[in-house]
Amino acid sequence: MKRASAYMAAGYPVHFTGPSGVGKTTLALNLAKKRNRPVMLMHGNHELSNADLIGSFTGYTATKVEDNYIRSVYKKEENVSETWKNGRLLEAVKNGYTLVYDEFTRSKPSANNLFLSILEEKVLPLYGTKHTEPFIKVHPEFSVIFTSNPEEYAGVYQTQEALLDRLITLPLSFLDLESETQIISSRTGAGEEEAKDISELVRGLREQCRKKGKEGPSLRASIMIAQLALAQNIEISGKNEEFQNLCRDIVWYQMRKAFEKESDSKILDMILSESKKVQG
Ligand SMILES: Nc1ncnc2c1ncn2[C@@H]1O[C@H](COP(=O)(O)OP(=O)(O)OP(=O)(O)O)[C@@H](O)[C@H]1O
Ligand SMILES: [Mg+2]
Repeated sequence: MKRASAYMAAGYPVHFTGPSGVGKTTLALNLAKKRNRPVMLMHGNHELSNADLIGSFTGYTATKVEDNYIRSVYKKEENVSETWKNGRLLEAVKNGYTLVYDEFTRSKPSANNLFLSILEEKVLPLYGTKHTEPFIKVHPEFSVIFTSNPEEYAGVYQTQEALLDRLITLPLSFLDLESETQIISSRTGAGEEEAKDISELVRGLREQCRKKGKEGPSLRASIMIAQLALAQNIEISGKNEEFQNLCRDIVWYQMRKAFEKESDSKILDMILSESKKVQG
């Protein structure tokens, strides 16, 4: 966080990358808030177009003035103009916002290419906008933080090497047991011991998934388990069947994904044996 702040202060865009649920978005937003500029959050997606980013004409507005109170005087004025709506990126660039561009690799390269000009030439080109200016200058306070998940690089769009080459990429990995415990406890109100038990349980399963080269359940799963157990008055104990069921429901999808070749019952056993370790 400190290093990222320093790079941003020096005018470099930073890029957090790491598996799902490590806290990329949270960190990016926290960092953005520290800059004391308005923060804009934008999510990458394949439909994001230059029109969304720069802006587009949304139609016509006609203003009409009719004045026929006095019969003898008839006045009619009509004014037709095209309505232009600024795109999100244009707003951010023009007003010097801090932009968090979450999961940017999900967008098409044609949309992301706008960032090459922003980062390199400090201008936003205004393609196809009928603006008299061909571009607008980037506000000196404008900055951008990117996030992405390397698992998604393959298969979405070709890696955007030119863009990545201009970013300072900082890899994030899962926090240690103590920090995860802290977060679970403060986010859900679970006791320190309970939070630690849940964290150990999820970390144990995550470790098994990682041996298979898969991400496994994240901190998000731990938070969900703690939250739901507390909300439903489920005792956090490995002996409690309700707690076992809750754990199974929450981690099932990630476990299934990591152990594709195993039978359902084998996976259930793995989850159950890890859940049972919780003392309560
Ligand atoms: N430092 C933190 N303090 C409090 N909560 C955190 C912290 N880091 C992560 N979390 C919580 O952990 C969960 C996952 O974090 P986040 O959504 O930032 O991960 P992510 O890496 O962006 O995941 P994804 O790739 O799935 O988008 C969230 O519920 C978030 O609130
Ligand atoms: Mg995220």
